[in-house]
Amino acid sequence: MTEREAETRLVVLISGGGSNLQAIIDGCADGSIPARIAAVISNRADAYGLTRAAKANLATRVLDHRGFADRESYDAALAEVIEEYAPHALLLAGFMRILTPAFVSRFRGRMFNIHPSLLPKYIGLHTHQRALDAGESRHGASVHFVTEELDGGPVVLQAWVPIERNDDATRLAARVLAREHLIYPAVARWFAQGRLHMRDERVLLDDTPLTEPILLGPDAAPPP
Ligand code: GAR
Repeated sequence: MTEREAETRLVVLISGGGSNLQAIIDGCADGSIPARIAAVISNRADAYGLTRAAKANLATRVLDHRGFADRESYDAALAEVIEEYAPHALLLAGFMRILTPAFVSRFRGRMFNIHPSLLPKYIGLHTHQRALDAGESRHGASVHFVTEELDGGPVVLQAWVPIERNDDATRLAARVLAREHLIYPAVARWFAQGRLHMRDERVLLDDTPLTEPILLGPDAAPPP
């Protein structure tokens, strides 16, 4: 392990259940992600992910957006809290807020998000229902670098699942979520290993530009 790997500090932002956070916690604990979570920050005090973080003895912070006059002032305060932990990477894991350009530019190239769709399809909310309504045969999730465009930054890794007859949004979301728990830790691992960069709005993995995202089928494991 290189010195950089041992030192990689992550800050994870959540708003809810934190199952993706749990996958990252587990990956750091078992050594598959050579990094340490320096803090978990939520905009909601009742997010169950905070309980998961506390159980793992991680530092937690709550910064409730409702106390702020506008998006700019919230994001500025959030950035200050994040900087206290001097993270190498910022992982948005079900953090349900639109970010200001000023915030994004501060963490550009080291901020990732997981989104429950096969981007560029279905940016925004209610992705599972929208995929069902559109009669898609498959749906999935994407991990991408965050840029100023909502759900629009370069995608690193995706996983798809088939849409089954009689699927509903809840069942589909659960199957997609299980795949999310595989792809987010993989991307966190590559970043922590110093193998993943964004340059000129493109993904570089092992110094090779990705011409398209890596796409995993339903039973495929992420590349090492
Ligand atoms: C996940 O499905 C994630 O992809 C989605 O929220 C869920 C959070 O679950 N994120 C977004 O929709 C972001 N636009 P979790 O709290 O159990 O990780």
